[in-house]
Amino acid sequence: MTWLPLKLKTYQLKTVYSLLNRYSTAAKALTTVNVNGKAFEADDYTNITPKIASYLNSNLHLKKNHPLSLVRQRIVNYFYTFRYAGNPEFSVYDNLNPVVSTKQNFDDLLISLDHVSRAKSDCYYINRGMLLRAHMTAHQSELLRSGLNNFLMIGDVYRRDEIDSTHFPVFHQVDAVRSLHKERLFPNQPDLEIFEPQYDTKNPFTFKNTISDPMKQSCHTLEATKVMETQLKNHLIGMVKTLFGKDIKHRWVDAYFPFTHPSWELEIFYENKWMEVLGCGIVRNEILVNAGPSNTIAYAFGLGLERLAMALYKIPDIRLMWSNDSGFLTQFENKDLDAKITYKPVSSYPQCTNDLSFWLPENLSIDTFMNNDFYELVRGIGGDIVEQVKLKDKFVHPKTKKHSLCYSIVYRHLERTLTQEEVNRIHKDIEVAVATAFNVVIR
Ligand code: DAH
Repeated sequence: MTWLPLKLKTYQLKTVYSLLNRYSTAAKALTTVNVNGKAFEADDYTNITPKIASYLNSNLHLKKNHPLSLVRQRIVNYFYTFRYAGNPEFSVYDNLNPVVSTKQNFDDLLISLDHVSRAKSDCYYINRGMLLRAHMTAHQSELLRSGLNNFLMIGDVYRRDEIDSTHFPVFHQVDAVRSLHKERLFPNQPDLEIFEPQYDTKNPFTFKNTISDPMKQSCHTLEATKVMETQLKNHLIGMVKTLFGKDIKHRWVDAYFPFTHPSWELEIFYENKWMEVLGCGIVRNEILVNAGPSNTIAYAFGLGLERLAMALYKIPDIRLMWSNDSGFLTQFENKDLDAKITYKPVSSYPQCTNDLSFWLPENLSIDTFMNNDFYELVRGIGGDIVEQVKLKDKFVHPKTKKHSLCYSIVYRHLERTLTQEEVNRIHKDIEVAVATAFNVVIR
């Protein structure tokens, strides 16, 4: 351990070492990783860092006065207004374990083995079989299998991503399913059917469902699809009107998700631009068949809470969601849920920008250098004071053909002014860690 000439905190060291373990052939592989109090066997897919694991159990969506919690409550209250025989239609699950299997996160949702969303560069894998859920849809099949028809799933999701004011590796989603039997889809219309005659609900596995018709899945009738689509769209327009006011303008955009067909995105016109709010669609019948309720038709949707909260309360930077500053949380205190709240910056401290340039080793090019691994390391060392990492310049040396990259790292503390000296020290640590972890030469 003497070769790192750094004064790093323990968690930073851990991050560097876990990265080194992945990149250095000399380093011996980790054998187990502890996540949420459980030990898992590590393998060549393990890329969860101690920094990321430290965000587990934060439960910002349940934290009193937290803007994410306020938006969650407004959405839940809206869905509680749907009643059947006097009881709420939707049940709410907001405490599901974020450690899920690849089966839950992908296979059960018909996400193909070669789909980009499975990439190691996009997810936090614990090992080849387990990961931190990348979307709340990961729980859809297990809840259907348990016999539920209508439910909301709310929680934290984890994705490796770029670094800027709207991206953070942890964010929060609300996902939902509503499924109906024929009797409830077509009350008093016993002649209408959910399924085409060729589909046999008793032997659902014998039917080959297709999605080549843009209007519907081949197993469904057009009438059933259209009734479900109308409900879905009405329910969601009602939700954005509840959140943003009855005059909010919206539009539907055709979309594709492996787990729904047809699929749409809902956009609203907010502050002079179209903003995407959610993805939704008619659940692929294969998913329902595998999970049990093969005689129903269902809709599903998923939305991100951060984006809604940032728009509703004019919160300029996603990192503020993680602030413990009383100046932040008190602005959301003891307010009527539907009160208009506009966040006022406590004060804004200056940014510091330092550049980081390096030559890539011969076996790597500008196109194969893993940006997300690099971002992760920068965040692992710099922590939350790293506001943004931007690729500033790329360059191929005409003679040596070596590739060079230059990134600007923007530092800003949300609660105090950083000194240039302090930033230089952290920047130097990042340089050393990057050089060691990626075998690059700092210019
Ligand atoms: N899981 C999708 C995402 O994270 C969002 C989504 C789209 C969820 C369509 C759904 C759905 O349930 O039906 O981007």
